[in-house]
Amino acid sequence: MEGAFFLAFLCTLQIFLSKCSVLTNTLSQSQLILNNQTVVSTGESFKLSFFSPSNSSRNRYLGIWFNKISNRTAVWVTNRNHPLTDSSGILKLNENWNLVLLNGTNSVIWSSSSSKHTKADDSVIAQLLDSDNLVLRYESNNDPENYIWQSFNYPLHSFLPGMKLGCNLETRFSRNLTSWKNDNDLSPRDFTGWIDPHGFPQLVVNQGSIRVDRASPWNGVRFSGSPELNSHSVFKPFFHF
Ligand SMILES: *[C@@H]1O[C@H](CO)[C@@H](O)[C@H](O)[C@H]1NC(C)=O
Ligand SMILES: *[C@@H]1O[C@H](CO)[C@@H](O)[C@H](O)[C@H]1NC(C)=O
Ligand SMILES: *[C@@H]1O[C@H](CO)[C@@H](O)[C@H](O)[C@H]1NC(C)=O
Ligand SMILES: *[C@@H]1O[C@H](CO)[C@@H](O)[C@H](O)[C@H]1NC(C)=O
Ligand SMILES: *[C@@H]1O[C@H](CO)[C@@H](O)[C@H](O)[C@H]1NC(C)=O
Repeated sequence: MEGAFFLAFLCTLQIFLSKCSVLTNTLSQSQLILNNQTVVSTGESFKLSFFSPSNSSRNRYLGIWFNKISNRTAVWVTNRNHPLTDSSGILKLNENWNLVLLNGTNSVIWSSSSSKHTKADDSVIAQLLDSDNLVLRYESNNDPENYIWQSFNYPLHSFLPGMKLGCNLETRFSRNLTSWKNDNDLSPRDFTGWIDPHGFPQLVVNQGSIRVDRASPWNGVRFSGSPELNSHSVFKPFFHF
């Protein structure tokens, strides 16, 4: 992308999965996902489902999980700041072609909030990709450049293969990682992992406005002071300018 730089990790970890599909991985306007349903991605690596975190009986979230590997933590969550408080919950595509999460009294508690949809003549679908990316796209156009909205643009606390961190220097749109409060309350804490664009860009961790850790600047080839990030058998970081 022009005028932007991003850090991305490419994961070569092989994921072996067995067959077990619950709902199709696409959602069109007439379809709903209800509190007790699960969407599984095409290659069955990830699933989208409602859940309550470990010890919390009250808060419920709609999140993306590894389908078979681990049920310990969700890798992405829609309603991080607005948990459901009962067993209701409906995800649907609304009339403006946004994904919305409704609570038991039909209030929108989360929305994909995209204003990008302009082609009224083309139908839009939501799809959970096998990369863990939840996307809104034209049914006839599968080019990532043309996604209307994608969860990869809104990273939370997990960084998965194919995701990017960093900022667009023109728009200042920044993709940061933010920790969540605790295992039961997934709203953000004040820890942020982000790419500081000043000088040589570097991966840093802030607590509020205080820098608490850094990976030392990208020197054109690698993070100069973080050899553990550079040659690894499982992942490989890429830096895009
Ligand atoms: C799923 O939830 C819906 C609405 O709450 C209910 O009508 C349906 O019976 C439930 N299905 C199962 C398998 O529990
Ligand atoms: C995770 O999986 C284990 C083993 O299948 C199961 O006992 C446990 O209840 C699951 N935990 C959650 C939160 O689903
Ligand atoms: C749904 O959300 C609205 C707005 O936050 C709230 O007033 C209402 O009580 C919620 N309904 C349920 C069933 O939680
Ligand atoms: C990411 O963090 C930087 C530094 O704290 C901040 O300037 C930027 O606004 C953050 N971006 C988002 C999307 O929160
Ligand atoms: C959850 O409950 C278990 C057992 O009561 C406890 O050991 C653990 O610390 C609790 N975890 C959290 C995050 O509260």
